[in-house]
Amino acid sequence: MLEISDLSAGYDSKDVVLGVSIDVREGEVVAIIGSNGAGKTTFLKAVCGLLPVSAGEVRYEGRSITDLAIHEIARAGISFVPAGRHLFPEMTVAENLGLGAYPHRPEAGQQSVVFDLFPRLAERRRQAAGTMSGGEQQMLAVGRALMSRPRLLILDEPTAGLAPKLAAQAYESLAALRTQGMTILVAEQQVPLVLSLADRGYVMETGAIQLQGSAAELRDNPTVRRAYLGVA
Ligand SMILES: Nc1ncnc2c1ncn2[C@@H]1O[C@H](COP(=O)(O)OP(=O)(O)O)[C@@H](O)[C@H]1O
Ligand SMILES: [Mg+2]
Repeated sequence: MLEISDLSAGYDSKDVVLGVSIDVREGEVVAIIGSNGAGKTTFLKAVCGLLPVSAGEVRYEGRSITDLAIHEIARAGISFVPAGRHLFPEMTVAENLGLGAYPHRPEAGQQSVVFDLFPRLAERRRQAAGTMSGGEQQMLAVGRALMSRPRLLILDEPTAGLAPKLAAQAYESLAALRTQGMTILVAEQQVPLVLSLADRGYVMETGAIQLQGSAAELRDNPTVRRAYLGVA
């Protein structure tokens, strides 16, 4: 579904993502794990059209989307949930959801799909987003991304800033989405949590993929255990 080959990207003509190749098949959950500064956010932003790609190619469902703008990528069926969520805190839950449908008009039907997945958002539809808990704001960020009816959801550190219980809840929501057939690419530092959901994963360090494998292979890998699972 998504095929990224030799992608490089960065800032001010200095690349920090260096020739990354990954692929995501339809229906899969694929994790990109890596510590702070590894290049995960830069990589995802370049894939989603939020940063320029300096080399390489992004193919989605057989066609190149490498140089498309974010709204064109959204129209193709990819939705991005940024780290830190980027909600409009003064606007209500329903208004934030409405913005997620851009560049289309919000569909009432799609809002019900989101409310079915997150009943908590339905209860709080008229509440200002900024007054909700971190866990609820994460639900809203995912809900907003779903408003454009994506087939591929890309998330950057959905657990950032969440207490462990809420982080686990965020992953329960993603598991529910996967059950409904959503394809998911997620960058995460909380390795046990993301590997409990993912089918496969890639380990990114200093802008390059160092390791890849099934979730079970990565969980058992000595390097992953030492670096990310706190096992000596
Ligand atoms: N806006 C920016 N301008 C310049 N350098 C940046 C910017 N954002 C991130 N970087 C650098 O790019 C590298 C990768 O960062 P990032 O993609 O945010 O990693 P991660 O998401 O894995 O923590 C880091 O060295 C970081 O300092
Ligand atoms: Mg990041």
